[in-house]
Amino acid sequence: MNIERFHAQQHGDSRGQLVALEEKSEIPFDIKRVYYIYDTKEGVRRGFHAHKSLKQLLICVNGACKVLLDNGHEKEIVILDKPYEGIFVQSNIWREMYDFTPDAVLLVLASEIYDESDYIRDYGRFLELVNNKDDMCSKETEREV
Ligand code: TYD
Repeated sequence: MNIERFHAQQHGDSRGQLVALEEKSEIPFDIKRVYYIYDTKEGVRRGFHAHKSLKQLLICVNGACKVLLDNGHEKEIVILDKPYEGIFVQSNIWREMYDFTPDAVLLVLASEIYDESDYIRDYGRFLELVNNKDDMCSKETEREV
């Protein structure tokens, strides 16, 4: 699975570190929303959804957590544990976040404001949607040949 990783430039000096995230230069989408998940209780698993069009950048700016990404065909687990490294999560990717350390702060930059109608919260429906898309893409390719 092709996971797009993000490495932020660190502006460090003898005082410590600073990371700046700017749309267009560092982030390839307009940042319409920022949220963060923290104080996650032991054993909690969150997410369990995909998005129809939303794009996101996930960075665990403190502590650590794991993210399971699933494109309907392949699954991959990524550990986020550095405040200057993250992953881009495109649309139509099922995600689950878990194994949060007690101090974990998971920062999310999102391309759209909150819209419940953009969520796919049912895994069976998610698989149907991605498989339909794959069928449509292969038909397009057949037509182009
Ligand atoms: P939820 O979707 O359950 O979070 P996750 O999928 O990451 O586990 O969101 C928890 C609550 O927060 C839910 O009531 C919706 C609300 N919420 C907002 O109001 N705005 C947002 O941008 C997000 C992500 C959630």
